[in-house]
Amino acid sequence: MSRLIINGGNRICGEVRIGGAKNSVLPILAATVLNGGINIIHDIPKLLDVYIMERILTSLGCSVKRENRTIVVDSGQLVNYVIPEELVREMRSSVIFLGAMLSRCGKVKASYPGGCEIGSRPIDLHLKSLREMGAEIEEKHGFLYCEAKKLRGCDIQLDFPSVGATENIMLAAVFAEGVTTIRNAAKEPEIIDLEKFLNAAGAKILGAGTATVRIEGVERLYNVEHDIIPDRIVAGTYLAAAVITKGEIILKNVIHEYLQPILYKFRESGCTIEYFNHSLRLIAPEEIKAVESVKTLPHPGYPTDMQAQMMAVMSLSDGTTIFTENIFENRYKHANELMRMGANIKIDGRIAVVRGVERLSGATVIAQDLRGGAALVLAGLAAEGTTVVENVRHIDRGYENIHDVLNGLGADIIRQ
Ligand code: UD1
Repeated sequence: MSRLIINGGNRICGEVRIGGAKNSVLPILAATVLNGGINIIHDIPKLLDVYIMERILTSLGCSVKRENRTIVVDSGQLVNYVIPEELVREMRSSVIFLGAMLSRCGKVKASYPGGCEIGSRPIDLHLKSLREMGAEIEEKHGFLYCEAKKLRGCDIQLDFPSVGATENIMLAAVFAEGVTTIRNAAKEPEIIDLEKFLNAAGAKILGAGTATVRIEGVERLYNVEHDIIPDRIVAGTYLAAAVITKGEIILKNVIHEYLQPILYKFRESGCTIEYFNHSLRLIAPEEIKAVESVKTLPHPGYPTDMQAQMMAVMSLSDGTTIFTENIFENRYKHANELMRMGANIKIDGRIAVVRGVERLSGATVIAQDLRGGAALVLAGLAAEGTTVVENVRHIDRGYENIHDVLNGLGADIIRQ
């Protein structure tokens, strides 16, 4: 099992290019089954979850060719409608294939995705919506059997703006009869990217990025080429690395608008941010100001995927910050590990009170989920002495060679 050995104390300074967003790539790869043709997708990150998606596509009969950061998926000949159980177990996001496969084949079987490190993560909204569109879904022996001769467009009101459910409905609705309207849809940038991809292939979707998404069913889709948007969470994590080490960083290939919820909190903590075309520079303050509160919310609120990294930064601030985790019920596992390094954090349910301390000290800590793991790396960069972060496989799900990137910015990290 891999670990990172971090010798803390170096400032993070330099320039880094942000690659394609994992959370955009996953639904778009699922969407490639729809057109029964060629899909060329650029700026694909080299991440474990993406490889799992490729394996699912191959098992369904797609030809998948990867050349560096471009993937070509030919979905002309599907031979299977079963999503392999071991791959669903490895990655919850594979549930996105339900909508895509129902749309393309009218049939799909997948094992029921289990819980995960950050909470139970039910899929009731996905299933309810697909049923409303006419899918028959049976849940037995741990499997989901879904069938629909023809999906029907309808009005769907989501109880919560779930990212995955919004994407699943969009995929299911592409070929549905009539118009599907999703109300209280998720507004995340990755939904906009999925809309762009599908429309470029010939779908008729309007409103992604707003609370109402309207999908008019079409007869067929065509070959398509698409560039994935940059990963706003990876961008936010490298910005956090600069802030926690009092450094300075230039990010290339970013979309300013999508980063605003993250940048707003960094400005509040005393950072200076300069904007350029598709890039930005962050200069960290000498003393990190505590921000009063960090409340995670659906986009454009503060992203839950940055909560852990921001907590690491605030643990070295000059005051007290109250975190409220509104999206996932079990997303503070990193707090215990940060406390092992000297952070002062009190947790009560969804609330975490972080009182800034003068210094963190290196310790052996365990990454228990993707973003929590990234937070421990950040803490290690700023801590006195050596930090060992165990279980790096969690971090590998969302960051390409995090140690190489950070070493390129002045860190001292060895991967073992
Ligand atoms: C996506 C992101 C993930 C991010 C999350 C919230 C991907 C691959 N992952 O996950 O990185 O943290 O959005 O921004 O894009 N819920 C239900 N029933 C459902 C669906 C969701 O109760 O059917 C609940 C979840 O348990 C959770 C909340 O809704 O508490 C948000 O989940 P959702 O927006 O669906 O997140 P994901 O799509 O799983």
